[in-house]
Amino acid sequence: MILEASPSVTNHKRAEDEFNPLLAAEARFDQAAEKLNIDEGMQKVLRSPSREIIVHIPVQLDDGRLEVFTGYRVQHSIARGPAKGGIRYAPDVTHDEVRALASWMTWKCAVTNVPFGGGKGGIICDPSLLSPSELERITRRYTAELFEFIGPEIDVPAPDVNTNDQTMAWIMDTYSMHSRHTQTAVVTGKPVDLGGSRGRTEATGRGCMIVTEQALRLLGMARSDARVVIQGFGNVGGMAARLMSRAGFKIVCIIEWDGAVYNANGLNIEALAKHRKETGSIKGFAEAEDIDRNEAMFLECEVLIPAARENVITSQNAHKIRAKILCEGANGPTTHLADPTLREKGIFVIPDILANAGGVTVSYFEWVQDRQGYFWNEQLVNDRLEEIMVNSFRDVVAYAQKHEVHNRLAAYMLALDRVQFAIKLRGIYA
Ligand SMILES: NC(=O)c1ccc[n+]([C@@H]2O[C@H](COP(=O)([O-])OP(=O)(O)OC[C@H]3O[C@@H](n4cnc5c(N)ncnc54)[C@H](O)[C@@H]3O)[C@@H](O)[C@H]2O)c1
Repeated sequence: MILEASPSVTNHKRAEDEFNPLLAAEARFDQAAEKLNIDEGMQKVLRSPSREIIVHIPVQLDDGRLEVFTGYRVQHSIARGPAKGGIRYAPDVTHDEVRALASWMTWKCAVTNVPFGGGKGGIICDPSLLSPSELERITRRYTAELFEFIGPEIDVPAPDVNTNDQTMAWIMDTYSMHSRHTQTAVVTGKPVDLGGSRGRTEATGRGCMIVTEQALRLLGMARSDARVVIQGFGNVGGMAARLMSRAGFKIVCIIEWDGAVYNANGLNIEALAKHRKETGSIKGFAEAEDIDRNEAMFLECEVLIPAARENVITSQNAHKIRAKILCEGANGPTTHLADPTLREKGIFVIPDILANAGGVTVSYFEWVQDRQGYFWNEQLVNDRLEEIMVNSFRDVVAYAQKHEVHNRLAAYMLALDRVQFAIKLRGIYA
């Protein structure tokens, strides 16, 4: 007997699959691997994480109770250098999500040609329910459990969702205590006073601005005519908004989780940031109009920068996008099922593994500076970031033209090709 799923079950499954980050990562990998004609064995090597670690962390809470938290660290590839990637703290962290994010880091580092592989970590916890001292104990125990598996030459973590420079300072200190000497290069995204790099906080937003400028130039459009819509007013979106507005772009709309603000003549970003600081929301800003946050992403504009979270452009809404350029500031904002619609609409996509790579690029600079023991001024950081982002953009566009594919596929193909080349050069150690 053949059992058939009902249409509602099929639709539910389709939606679940569309939002599964691991399936999304695999879908893009498959397309690129097929196009490059990578043989089956090499595909297996490229697809498989190099190492996956699960730790169960006992921690004493402030009220004296004992709790156990589960943490992950996935090192997807170490073919081109130490694994590199953030650590996130969230209640919905899953092993699959960490796996997908680790593989994205491999491809991102390869696209920008920085000498790292890819890694990612996460702890299942709700930071909003934990005190700073509880978070510190969780972080330190997680670091101690991972001591043999991380290090400047092995795997270099960084901040991600709900972790920050303070978290990195705790990791650096714990690792250094176990090593019996200070090792600043074990993590990036540290405070500048503890071996962090100047320009790191702005780096991802700055990178988005640099590649958007390149896209405008390629499409023969002027910066002053570019209306920009940004989703997310946090680190990436907020910085991109600030820097782009200062550079002469017209930021017409900012979208947050609780509302959206619009001004056809361009928002005053510094004033909007002040308003949010004072009121806790972007809504009710005197110099703009409050608009429906669910429709704001579909405004007619030259540039749309989703810089909040994953899976916001889907098979259900991609047809409504009216931007000419989509610069993916967030990781995975577009589902793989939305890709064909964007292509049909002729939208110029700057894929996440290129668009938001400014962060890992300046993390690389931080690691270099820590190992040199010599720190660069901000101008040097920004100049070198620009050089890498512009070269990476050009590499992806040239690859797209040469292979007659769209930018996302080109970025994946370029990355896979670089990683497989490194693996072949090194050979497989028996
Ligand atoms: N920070 C970095 O250097 C960096 C580097 C590469 C990629 N990223 C990616 O960029 C994205 C944003 O990271 P971040 O560091 O800016 O985080 P963040 O927490 O600083 O900012 C995210 C902002 O998005 C807002 N937001 C949340 N849900 C929203 C929704 N549904 N609609 C509109 N706004 C919403 C939040 O309120 C917050 O202001 C993530 O996908 C992250 O993985 C960040």
